[in-house]
Amino acid sequence: MSNVWKKVCSVHEIRDGLGACALVDNRQVALFLVNGQMFAVSNLDPFSGCNVISRGITGDLEGRIVVASPVYKQHFDLETGICLEDESVCLESYPVEVVDGRVMVMMPAIDWVA
Ligand code: FES
Repeated sequence: MSNVWKKVCSVHEIRDGLGACALVDNRQVALFLVNGQMFAVSNLDPFSGCNVISRGITGDLEGRIVVASPVYKQHFDLETGICLEDESVCLESYPVEVVDGRVMVMMPAIDWVA
């Protein structure tokens, strides 16, 4: 099964600098618009185990656009999902595009095991 682009919402529903959470294929995706650029990562904070990443504060750190977890404040690169404080940990990140004002996210196919 291959990856599929999913329509998520209108780009006007996302405020620049703030995150939004969407349920896509039963997975929580944190969407961010930062300086006009869209990012999509998993909403699940790997350090706390809580679905809170979309509530994080965005910023620029070491030249990378990041979100800080609202729980323990680790920073995640929004492009790659990699944690700046511990590069062995990362958020799942998804390709995202805006097409005709619609936010489209590419979700990895789920492999169902019989
Ligand atoms: S549920 Fe974990 S921080 Fe709120």
